[in-house]
Amino acid sequence: MRHHWLLLGACGWVLLILMFVSKFISYRAVDDYGERLAGQSWTLPGAKLNPPIPDSSQEKAAPQPSDQPSEAPTLTDWQAVTDRRNELLSSMCKNSSLRNLTHVSISKFVLDRIFVCDKQKILFCQTPKVGNTQWKKVLIVLNGGYSDVNEIPENLVHDHEKNGLPRLSSLKPQEITHRLNTYFKFFIVRDPFERLISAFKDKFVKNPRFEPWYKHDIAPAIIRKYRKSHRDSSLSASGLHFDDFVRYLGDVEGRRRLDRQFGEHIIHWVTYAELCAPCEIHYSVVGHHETLEQDAPYILKAAGIDKLVSYPSIPPGITHYNQSKVEHYFSTIGKRDIRRLFARYQGDFHLFGYPSPDFLLD
Ligand SMILES: *[C@@H]1O[C@H](CO)[C@@H](O)[C@H](O)[C@H]1NC(C)=O
Ligand SMILES: *[C@@H]1O[C@H](CO)[C@@H](O)[C@H](O)[C@H]1NC(C)=O
Ligand SMILES: *[C@@H]1O[C@H](CO)[C@@H](O)[C@H](O)[C@H]1NC(C)=O
Repeated sequence: MRHHWLLLGACGWVLLILMFVSKFISYRAVDDYGERLAGQSWTLPGAKLNPPIPDSSQEKAAPQPSDQPSEAPTLTDWQAVTDRRNELLSSMCKNSSLRNLTHVSISKFVLDRIFVCDKQKILFCQTPKVGNTQWKKVLIVLNGGYSDVNEIPENLVHDHEKNGLPRLSSLKPQEITHRLNTYFKFFIVRDPFERLISAFKDKFVKNPRFEPWYKHDIAPAIIRKYRKSHRDSSLSASGLHFDDFVRYLGDVEGRRRLDRQFGEHIIHWVTYAELCAPCEIHYSVVGHHETLEQDAPYILKAAGIDKLVSYPSIPPGITHYNQSKVEHYFSTIGKRDIRRLFARYQGDFHLFGYPSPDFLLD
């Protein structure tokens, strides 16, 4: 009789653990986009070439109106879009009033961000919150570990000991230079403010990967320095607010010491320029998250790997720029703080053709 109860108890525990683990896994699968889309699956094979869905808010976000053709564009059309983006980038890199924000040295920090696929001569610079998990899967397939992106376990993608994706920083200086000079190089960007919202939600609100340091170390440090009213700074009760985060991000000088303390974790919110040094490294393509349905197949083709691998299918609507969401997040934030934030991130807006968010600044 006692055995039965023990057995029943053990089964209960196993069930609880399974429920916990399955929750964990399903959250991981989509968290790279910072949003959870219920009922949408990443397991459909092949990259879909959806024509862009006309959407007024998306059009406002488009780098140039002509980036949003009404018909599904051909790869040749997309070549022209990419060329225009590259021209804009190189002209903005020459803009001396943006120099402080756009020019960074190719430091170890930057080399740590770049993943190497020697088999296909590709370098990929990681820009978190912009669908990077999916691109890492593509590179893991190319490096020969798996035959299909859907076979790769989610936890392996971010396990840099085991995923077989070396960082550029792990190579010798002449090997680095050789690869920077000859390989196909790319990264992906999205609207800079939407990315910051996504980082805030992913790390400080949801924290789906159980990374306790964001809530336990980083949030309290930011609150101590940047929360306006210390009366409601009962840290554990309320957690980091978006306005604390914005004040921290906009404080160019003041945040340096904190950022050193936060180490690698700042990759989720430092500028694209700081992550990938796009004015120093001549990337072949800078894709846009907002047009990923066109950019993903274009990048595969341009890198010469479209016959070898496909990009995981893109859940509909997930790439759309949502201006009401941005307005909502900034609605309680003072104009002065928003202007400071923009001053800090305007390099990213200009380099990649995102219109400045005047609806927040006026
Ligand atoms: C250079 O950057 C400044 C500062 O944002 C901007 O106002 C100006 O229009 C830019 N110049 C050019 C030629 O794009
Ligand atoms: C660039 O940085 C230097 C040193 O930090 C500063 O003195 C200068 O005012 C900055 N220039 C611009 C245009 O922000
Ligand atoms: C945009 O964001 C708002 C506020 O977060 C949300 O209610 C709305 O459903 C979003 N729109 C789209 C098209 O995703």
